[in-house]
Amino acid sequence: MENVEEFYDQLSSSYTDLIKKCVPRYDELLSNMFLYLQPDFKPLRILDLGCGTGNLTQRILEHFPDAKIDVLDLSEDILHECMNRFDNKSNINYLQADFKSMNLPGGTYDLVMSSIAIHHVEDPFKFKLYTDVFQSLKMDGLFIFADQTRGITDEIYFKNIECWKAEALKLGSTEENWKMWMAHQDAHDFHSPVGWHLENLQKAGFNEVDLLSKYLMWGVFWAKKI
Ligand SMILES: C[S@@+](CC[C@H](N)C(=O)[O-])C[C@H]1O[C@@H](n2cnc3c(N)ncnc32)[C@H](O)[C@@H]1O
Repeated sequence: MENVEEFYDQLSSSYTDLIKKCVPRYDELLSNMFLYLQPDFKPLRILDLGCGTGNLTQRILEHFPDAKIDVLDLSEDILHECMNRFDNKSNINYLQADFKSMNLPGGTYDLVMSSIAIHHVEDPFKFKLYTDVFQSLKMDGLFIFADQTRGITDEIYFKNIECWKAEALKLGSTEENWKMWMAHQDAHDFHSPVGWHLENLQKAGFNEVDLLSKYLMWGVFWAKKI
């Protein structure tokens, strides 16, 4: 099995189609990330962590067309797909980096977002990412991310996986697609329970944390630096 970078390098050109067949209510998940933002919240500097081909970046641009947006990903090939998608946008800056070793500038961002990416690193690196994001935000800055979570029991977790498979097949995934997602998941996905995320966001310094929405294993988290 290839590593996570090679996996996304190989998948880069087909990723945008595949993810829509794989993740139930994917559009709704991305929409929910913006649902609780106040109308007068106008972030000038935004970071998209694990941007992939830019599905969340696209939504960010629709909400905040004048913001300066940094997009970061481990995979060089997927970053190229993202660059091609937004080729005429001068307000997007592309960064190739690993969550595990990235150096984010301090006190810079008004908003940091991430969709379905943080589960690719183990818990100690998730905590490091939370502390990195906290120090990179301005005061009153927001960190909003969507990700896969682990059930608090195995029964809940495996029921979620069973429901996910049924929904993915309805969305047009094939058995072969499903086997690929599961092989990828077994090799390099590290799902953590909702409570773990909330507790560790607080430990990283965020004073206001919440789970905004959840469907099966996909949750949307809110963390504010006050
Ligand atoms: C499932 S995709 C999500 C992409 C996009 N946010 C979306 O919603 O379509 C996960 C992305 O995280 C990136 N990624 C995985 N591990 C990473 C790491 N350690 N550091 C930075 N990016 C990583 C992958 O290359 C991939 O583009």
